[in-house]
Amino acid sequence: MDHAADPSAAVDAPPASTLITPQPRPLTPEWLTTLAGQVALVSGASSGIGRAVALALGRSGADVVVNFASDSQGAGHVVTELHALGRRAIAVQADVSREADVEAMFARAVSEFGTLHIVVCNAGLQRDAPLEQMTLEQWNTVIGVNLTGQFLCARAAVREFKRRGFDDRSVALGKIICMSSVHQRIPWAGHANYAASKGGVMLLMQTMAQELAAQRIRVNGIAPGAIRTPINTAAWHTRQARDELMALVPYGRIGEPDDVARAAVWLASDAADYVTGATLFVDGGMTLYPGFVGRG
Ligand code: BGC
Repeated sequence: MDHAADPSAAVDAPPASTLITPQPRPLTPEWLTTLAGQVALVSGASSGIGRAVALALGRSGADVVVNFASDSQGAGHVVTELHALGRRAIAVQADVSREADVEAMFARAVSEFGTLHIVVCNAGLQRDAPLEQMTLEQWNTVIGVNLTGQFLCARAAVREFKRRGFDDRSVALGKIICMSSVHQRIPWAGHANYAASKGGVMLLMQTMAQELAAQRIRVNGIAPGAIRTPINTAAWHTRQARDELMALVPYGRIGEPDDVARAAVWLASDAADYVTGATLFVDGGMTLYPGFVGRG
């Protein structure tokens, strides 16, 4: 037939089947953030933000693999709390900067719980020093845990999501959340290794999101500001330190680990389906350049 004479044939329309793709279920209040039946792994979950994220995922219905590097007691407490919520949970030791540790941790997670749906690349540390005094060891330690560790965990996550294939527990094949920092955007004198690692996390996250979207793997970041955790005790434990910190936080309070945990639950849930490659800043406005109020 002459295509020009038949308008319906003139358009190279895709077959109808490719237009029908899995959609999230309707947004009932209970369902919005439920993670029931899903399995999550949180690196660096024995304290601080990781601990809060692990517990919040558990409260939302997920079983949780609680990774720790050295604080087995802290991780054990998190597991006990998850059990009390009725969740399955195990603590697994792994230094995320070491490939063999990460591979063994994911193998253990899959052998215990069958698969993983959510991986939160959270483990991070600081080794602060002025640039001219920063040792190569300080540099390598921070880049190793904060950046290489996220690459190793994300790579293992993708391999497991693809091995499993789709199931009925989420419309996405898998979800990866990269814990970044306001210092993916704000330069930070005296912390060149940390700022470089978080700048790297930002483009690692965006590149993974771009590469994996077609496979229905969502990759997002969270950029916390000043959150009350052991990593930054010096910034909030005296009144003077708190006052100086508050000059940087328009919202007028320090962040709590649960502020970050709520964001992680949402990003992990199908309520955030169609959100990928995004960084959610949870910083009380720290990245709004409060120093410019009344100046400039
Ligand atoms: C750092 C904290 C710091 C905060 C705001 C975080 O990423 O780990 O030490 O207080 O950024 O500067």
